[in-house]
Amino acid sequence: MRIALGSDHAGFDLKSIVAVHLAERGHEVEDLGARDAMTSVDYPDFGAAVGRAVVSGSCDLGVAICGTGIGISIAANKVSGVRAALVNDVTTATLAKQHNDANVVCLGARVLGTVTALDALDAFLAAVVEPRHQARLRKIAVLDGSAPANNPSED
Ligand code: RB5
Repeated sequence: MRIALGSDHAGFDLKSIVAVHLAERGHEVEDLGARDAMTSVDYPDFGAAVGRAVVSGSCDLGVAICGTGIGISIAANKVSGVRAALVNDVTTATLAKQHNDANVVCLGARVLGTVTALDALDAFLAAVVEPRHQARLRKIAVLDGSAPANNPSED
């Protein structure tokens, strides 16, 4: 899988660990920054970059990290077609795939320990989307304009 990875300065250290973790598991990582933990940068820039990489199809999944994971998830979700989920543990990560088919996983580097963050990411990658939620996902797509309000096949 090709995975877009982005963080602000607060998420930089965890992003570096996540990049190695994903590469060791055979994934291709596209690191969209930040480039260090010392330079203060703005999480919306990196949340948007990760979201655009996924929506454009250049990556299959995004992982976005900031201090809490909150700001970067809000930013990523402003990109039409993104379903960014802030996950805190194995349970929320698993459900973010099963129920929400999240295409960007967000982590809070100042909130989660490294093991918890990596376990959550692995759980997300191992989980499978449950088709019974498709109608709800389509409603989300209509809300952000990434799908038409009317299903043309029903016209
Ligand atoms: C940066 O100081 C911090 O505000 C950011 O990483 C994030 O936690 C925002 O939601």
